[in-house]
Amino acid sequence: MKKDLLKLLDLSQEDILEILNLADQMKYELKNGIKHKVLKGKTLAMIFSKSSTRTRVSFETGMYQLGGQALFLSHNDLQIGRGEPVEDTARVLSRYVDGIMIRTFAQEEVETLASRASIPVINGLTDFAHPCQILADLMTVREYHSALEGVKVAWIGDGNNVCNSLIVGALKCGMKMSVATPKGYEPHADILAFAKEYPEFSLVNDPAEAAETADVLVTDVWASMGQEDEAQKRIRDFAGFQINEKIMSIAHEKAIVLHCLPAHRDEEISAGVFEKYADPIFDEAENRLHAQKAVMALLMGK
Ligand code: CP
Ligand code: NVA
Repeated sequence: MKKDLLKLLDLSQEDILEILNLADQMKYELKNGIKHKVLKGKTLAMIFSKSSTRTRVSFETGMYQLGGQALFLSHNDLQIGRGEPVEDTARVLSRYVDGIMIRTFAQEEVETLASRASIPVINGLTDFAHPCQILADLMTVREYHSALEGVKVAWIGDGNNVCNSLIVGALKCGMKMSVATPKGYEPHADILAFAKEYPEFSLVNDPAEAAETADVLVTDVWASMGQEDEAQKRIRDFAGFQINEKIMSIAHEKAIVLHCLPAHRDEEISAGVFEKYADPIFDEAENRLHAQKAVMALLMGK
């Protein structure tokens, strides 16, 4: 394992499976009252430049369960919000705490923070990637389909941060993947360059084509945080890119649906499909806690 978790492109298949196996163990132990305070006395600083429900609560609760504590640091309350360089913030926090989780806009900010911090840095979402989300998603796929190898995942919607990370995580773990986006909303060029090496990857503009025989269907909001001004245009551009009953009839009969949440019912997912697949969707949300505890134990527990 590297020092940091900045993007799944940096991890090997072995790294990902090590996290998932430990996450399964953490989940089992939590449910059975077995406590391992592997981060006793340690502190995680959590820098947020964007809103969050799941990421904040799961990291904070996870640190507490592992015997440590977490500090919620809003961008606006830090000197970063008044222009203090991220390089200096990295060096200061490295003197006080044992790890940093950051949610922000530019991936470069996270990479710079990590390069100047002597402690582990974890990406809690950027415009480019959402690696912690995908670890929880892969964990959920294994719970429902017993494996990752050969399982087909279809992404329908925006080629955004969550899609970028899902492509990398799924392909590195031997899954097949088909992505359907409207023209102009494709995944990041670096991700497409990575995916080009995998014959089991396809990028199409027809949601029905992507959904065919899929075992897992995944989507996300059409306008991500920071794209609020484009919301109306995106509603028009993404017409037809909804996971609904018709799309589900094309998928495998045992298919599940995942959504990182928050969801916009009757935009990217119909209200009926959302409720029908609420169990895997909320298992996925729960698995954020277990997956991130595994990441923190591996990176900060040394
Ligand atoms: N899925 C996810 O990251 O949720 P939050 O934005 O609530 O953290
Ligand atoms: N793509 C969404 C994910 C939210 C968890 C966003 O970046 O806002």
